[in-house]
Amino acid sequence: MNKITQLFNIHYPIIQGGMIWNSGYKLASAVSNAGGLGLIGAGSMYPDVLREHIQKCKKATDKPFGVNVPMLYPNIEEIINIIVEEDVKIVFTSAGNPKTWTSFLKTKGITVVHVVSSSKFALKAQEAGVDAVVAEGFEAGGHNGREETTTLTLIPMVKENILVPLIAAGGIATGRGMLAAMVLGADGVQMGSRFVASTESSAHDNFKKTVLETGEGETQLTLKELAPVRLIKNKFFDDLQELYAQCPSKEDLENLLGKRRAKRGMFEGDLVEGELEIGQISGLIHEIKPAADIIKEIITEFELAKKEASSL
Ligand SMILES: Cc1cc2nc3c(=O)[nH]c(=O)nc-3n(C[C@H](O)[C@H](O)[C@H](O)COP(=O)(O)O)c2cc1C
Repeated sequence: MNKITQLFNIHYPIIQGGMIWNSGYKLASAVSNAGGLGLIGAGSMYPDVLREHIQKCKKATDKPFGVNVPMLYPNIEEIINIIVEEDVKIVFTSAGNPKTWTSFLKTKGITVVHVVSSSKFALKAQEAGVDAVVAEGFEAGGHNGREETTTLTLIPMVKENILVPLIAAGGIATGRGMLAAMVLGADGVQMGSRFVASTESSAHDNFKKTVLETGEGETQLTLKELAPVRLIKNKFFDDLQELYAQCPSKEDLENLLGKRRAKRGMFEGDLVEGELEIGQISGLIHEIKPAADIIKEIITEFELAKKEASSL
């Protein structure tokens, strides 16, 4: 047992990050059934869709699971009410002020974790009363911090600043990565990219296959003026770069981004015009596997690496 397995009552300190268009109840329940903590990604769900996923997740697992709520998305109040009504026990909030919802959720008996990309926001989350913090480095897939702080530097710095349990995210997809993050001071890890390429991820097959083909250096953080996000360098990304060369306004960027790009890319499989969010660690992801196999492999490698490290 460690702080994270105890906090969530899970077997392994591995959290599957909430991911728009990727983490519905199938992935969340598969991860929870395998001993990790699965999170339903509410960010791409209308409120009624979220309710359905929560209800299906309860049927698919008797293990703890949670919901990730990115606070930059609309309908937050409705989403929070559904979470409370459906008796969800764990909520991970991200992309917003941790003060907004933490105390309300805590009064409902919910375990609250907030995702940050700096020590400053980790402290703010701790002050807001969260039960744990996810510190996510620049390598990560999806939306990210503007400061480009890497996981290797972020984890020990956040560790120095906070007392609540710390979960490392960004660039972790293997047992060795997990061990490294824990040696740096994390109590557990959150992985996103690795679970995109899982059998149970709701991503389109085109996107999953593209993740396997995406190598070192083939993703980049962009759109810092709107909400910074790490993307695969496809045609949409190239169009963005062309626009950047013309010193665009925020409005120009919003116009090019338009609506539903992420759905188009990751859920509908449009590899040309869609937004394809993945982390740098995609270069180390070579196979689509069931979530349970991914977790088993990670734990086996973690134990082996721990033994090897003792002789260093
Ligand atoms: C496709 C994709 C979608 C994501 N969507 C969300 C989201 O909706 N909310 C959130 O808090 N984080 C989101 N993330 C971040 C993950 O939860 C996780 O913290 C991150 O992927 C960890 O880094 P890694 O990709 O290197 O494993 C997303 C990541 C990916 C790859």
